[in-house]
Amino acid sequence: MKTTWIILGGTSTMARAFARKAAERGEGVILAGREMDDLKATATDCGLRGAPHAEAAAFDARDADTFSKLISRAKSLEGSISVAVFVGSMPPQEAIDADPSLIDGVVMDNFTGPARFLTAIAPVLEDQGGGTVVGVGSVAGDRGRLGNYVYGAAKAGFHTYLSGLRNRLGRSGVHVVTVKPGTVDTAMTWGLDKLPFLAQPEKIVSDIFRAVDKKKNVIYTPLIWWPVMTVIRLIPEPIFKKMQI
Ligand SMILES: NC(=O)c1ccc[n+]([C@@H]2O[C@H](COP(=O)([O-])OP(=O)(O)OC[C@H]3O[C@@H](n4cnc5c(N)ncnc54)[C@H](OP(=O)(O)O)[C@@H]3O)[C@@H](O)[C@H]2O)c1
Repeated sequence: MKTTWIILGGTSTMARAFARKAAERGEGVILAGREMDDLKATATDCGLRGAPHAEAAAFDARDADTFSKLISRAKSLEGSISVAVFVGSMPPQEAIDADPSLIDGVVMDNFTGPARFLTAIAPVLEDQGGGTVVGVGSVAGDRGRLGNYVYGAAKAGFHTYLSGLRNRLGRSGVHVVTVKPGTVDTAMTWGLDKLPFLAQPEKIVSDIFRAVDKKKNVIYTPLIWWPVMTVIRLIPEPIFKKMQI
């Protein structure tokens, strides 16, 4: 039986494209998030596209009480489960600079909420002895930049968490894919200017499923971001700290 994906951040532009593609592959989807009507609409669409199972469920990265219900639901499903994390938030860095309390929410949405959920569901994945975890991080996590260093720091934490989770779950046959997108045309980037190599969500999703099928560990998507970030990581700190990238 094909896997059922628990998709955290199911209203995300990228997650919607991911769910549609999963449905076309004959895989099940649970769209999890905060906006139930929106999630239900995507679930209905996925059912029409061939998902053997499609439903909406409540998930709030800042409310751990929502995690246990979702995990119980996942346990009650027939067949294997997989998890894809698309949750994230990126307030403007200037807003965070003016109100440092915003940092807590950014870290919860991009790192600690998803990490807490994945840690809680890890034993279920270990018991089933297979399945996949897709964690969407960001190239922003590779180096702290002037324009989004709190978001970048949260993503860096998530990357490191996923690396350790891959080490743990790999021993039980569960594969963990870390996805580092560059700039993508979604609600998160709407209205922002200066977006190099802007990609469409469908491109990111096609790269993600290729990585899932080939059991890749870490991907940059689109691939151009791999050389770009390699160069950016190599810039010496005395020079990097004066740059406006
Ligand atoms: N767009 C880019 O250029 C880009 C680049 C690199 C990485 N990413 C990452 O890609 C992922 C998907 O983002 P996107 O570009 O598709 O943007 P998006 O459409 O804004 O999606 C963000 C998602 O996160 C959800 N979310 C935020 N806070 C949450 C919370 N506390 N609890 C539950 N859900 C929460 C939102 O749900 P609501 O609808 O309820 O707000 C939404 O579903 C994110 O992790 C983002 O950081 C994006």
